[in-house]
Amino acid sequence: MQRVQVIKGFSKLFKEDKLKQVTSYFENPGEAEQILKSFWHQNPSVQNLLDEFSENSISNFNFPYGIAPNFLINDTLYLIPMVIEESSVVAAAASSAKFWAEHGGFHAKVIAVKKIGQVHFIWEGNKEKLIAAMPRLREEMIKGTRHLTANMEKRGGGILDIDLVDMTHEIDNYYQIKASFNTVDSMGANFINTILEEFAGILTRFIARQDNFESHEKYCEIIMSILSNYTPECLVKTYVECEIDAFKNCDENLSAERFAWKFEKAVQIAHADVHRATTHNKGVFNGIDAVILATGNDFRAIEAGGHTYAARNGKYASLTDIKIENNRFHYSLTIPMALGTVGGLTGLHPLAKFSLGLLNNPDAEQLMMIAASVGLANNFGAVKSLITKGIQIGHMRMHLYNILNHIGVSPQEKNKAVEYFKDKKVSFSSVNELIANLRSN
Ligand code: MEV
Repeated sequence: MQRVQVIKGFSKLFKEDKLKQVTSYFENPGEAEQILKSFWHQNPSVQNLLDEFSENSISNFNFPYGIAPNFLINDTLYLIPMVIEESSVVAAAASSAKFWAEHGGFHAKVIAVKKIGQVHFIWEGNKEKLIAAMPRLREEMIKGTRHLTANMEKRGGGILDIDLVDMTHEIDNYYQIKASFNTVDSMGANFINTILEEFAGILTRFIARQDNFESHEKYCEIIMSILSNYTPECLVKTYVECEIDAFKNCDENLSAERFAWKFEKAVQIAHADVHRATTHNKGVFNGIDAVILATGNDFRAIEAGGHTYAARNGKYASLTDIKIENNRFHYSLTIPMALGTVGGLTGLHPLAKFSLGLLNNPDAEQLMMIAASVGLANNFGAVKSLITKGIQIGHMRMHLYNILNHIGVSPQEKNKAVEYFKDKKVSFSSVNELIANLRSN
């Protein structure tokens, strides 16, 4: 690979030229080009569609699309589509799903569906005047965006509230217009951001027109208008529960009571310690992100909001909660989740559309409940492994496959390696050694 140079106007090049430019840095440009092209979709119109999702696309990056069966959520069984590169996540989800399907399944409900957006602005003046003007400004904002909200209102959503927030205690002269929205089945990012930008213009013009404002008060500086990915009032809760006795076969060395006790301690630790809390919650997002990717939603938004929620009490902690009472084990996850099932990639990406079909075309609230339940399932599976046999054993088979694929082995060698490592620790060197031995004999 040669040293990369500054490229001017890359985005304006045709795809073939971008590809040539990128591969020209490789020792063997023809081979590099072949690799990239080998991942192009066989159907040119699908490839065109994929290319248009992002700027400067020159190929596709494939991830496994897996299925976790037997998810019983609110008495309905689902086959869950999961897009994830980490070995064992789908297996963990499937195994938890099966266990909980035999114990009542996941019970999920949406607590609220409010989303937030803000216009951040700097205004120097008598704040009482601004507060007094707020009812009129609110009305102008509602009227002035009616052309944008009419369709959403027909679907049962729209603007819920518009408030002035005084933030001058944080930054001199800093205020917000904080608006809340119901975007029904769409994630709503475009809808909210368009309205906020309109609000910013309305605010600027409104302030300039106020007769009782001094001349310096007739001007405000809009800093930015953007939705917030922290959506504590777009919230879903899911839980599982069973008699403790149900855990009697979870581990040959642990009684059901001891298993439940250890599980409770593990969750308490994730509430007490920030390092553990982060990894514990990562296990939740293993499941959630995989469903969100498979359904064409924005996993970064959900992660960002989820982690902020985990720190809502001033300390980052577990997103899951446990209660063991009267021999009953109750385990829940409460998490904000601004998802959509219409708009964005959901209907455009052929596999996102397929995933939603597989889930029986859920509305946004149903998808929130499904994704949260898969998150709880993955976390349950992870904690169960951690407190019993450990996490590595479950990773080993996939780890072995990855190493074998990396080395490049025949199907016979693969079978022999799988048999050999049934009861041994897998490492790159041990696999290499085995394959070398097989080949020298
Ligand atoms: C690995 O992807 C996720 C875990 O680390 C989660 C956890 O520790 O709870 C296993």
